[in-house]
Amino acid sequence: MLTPTGELITDVRARGGAACAFNVITVEHAEAIVTGAEMAGCPVILQVSENAVRFHHGRLAPIAAAARAVAVAAGVPVALHLDHVESVELLDEAAPNGFGSVMFDASKRPYAENVLATASVVAACHAAGLWVESELGEVGGKDGAHAPGARTDPAEAAAYVAATGVDALAVAVGSSHAMLERTARLDQELIVRLRDAVGVPLVLHGSSGVPDDELTAAVRGGMVKINIGTALNTAFTGAVRATLGDRPDLVDPRRYLTPARSAMADTVAAALRLLSPVLHP
Ligand code: G3H
Ligand code: ZN
Repeated sequence: MLTPTGELITDVRARGGAACAFNVITVEHAEAIVTGAEMAGCPVILQVSENAVRFHHGRLAPIAAAARAVAVAAGVPVALHLDHVESVELLDEAAPNGFGSVMFDASKRPYAENVLATASVVAACHAAGLWVESELGEVGGKDGAHAPGARTDPAEAAAYVAATGVDALAVAVGSSHAMLERTARLDQELIVRLRDAVGVPLVLHGSSGVPDDELTAAVRGGMVKINIGTALNTAFTGAVRATLGDRPDLVDPRRYLTPARSAMADTVAAALRLLSPVLHP
């Protein structure tokens, strides 16, 4: 069932847990994420990034409609989130396309500019009924300027949340986007300090590169939304490569998308099952 993100997050947080958010690129991603969530019996967040919208020729509506339809038919609560948005124009499309939340990403901008831009986006999004996440202390990609050494300062984070009115804060604590190996080490002590300082749910980005023990510790320490993207693509592409490698005569995409979708569902279920005891204490 389609559920507003704020409601889903408030619910898991009230139980002392967290929610996982997985990136949707194709309709098979959305189907796999919901199948995996149903296998694990957990609520889940489907998130579409501005990069994914760019891949779909800059059009949000088709992939949003597909994700929304998959969410509506789901047997577990499913929220729709628009992720890593830098374009204010795209934010205007969130509510009309069924999203319950957005992540406005001004993390590359200087602090004062990030505050000003985010405060104005939060006011507009709240008026449209959207839950808003933003980022402080850029979580870079593998070669990002601030990754993986960037850290969010707790005092600055508290001031930022008060000045912007955001509902959740993505923080830099040692993870990095698009890692293919799970070798990231998180600053667990900083997570606890940030949780105590900011008062709003904390969001962990780049979770594909974070090993199991670090992930469970991060949730125990106060992370409330765990973002996972690359791990699904690793599973998807690995299955496609294996299937096509074995069958050079194969042309029907359903033949390789079926194992690819199953591999993603298994990855989702494994992540949710890992975090389940922490997610649903
Ligand atoms: O916002 C999305 C996440 O931060 C995904 O990061 O692809 O490294 O798992 P990841
Ligand atoms: Zn991210």
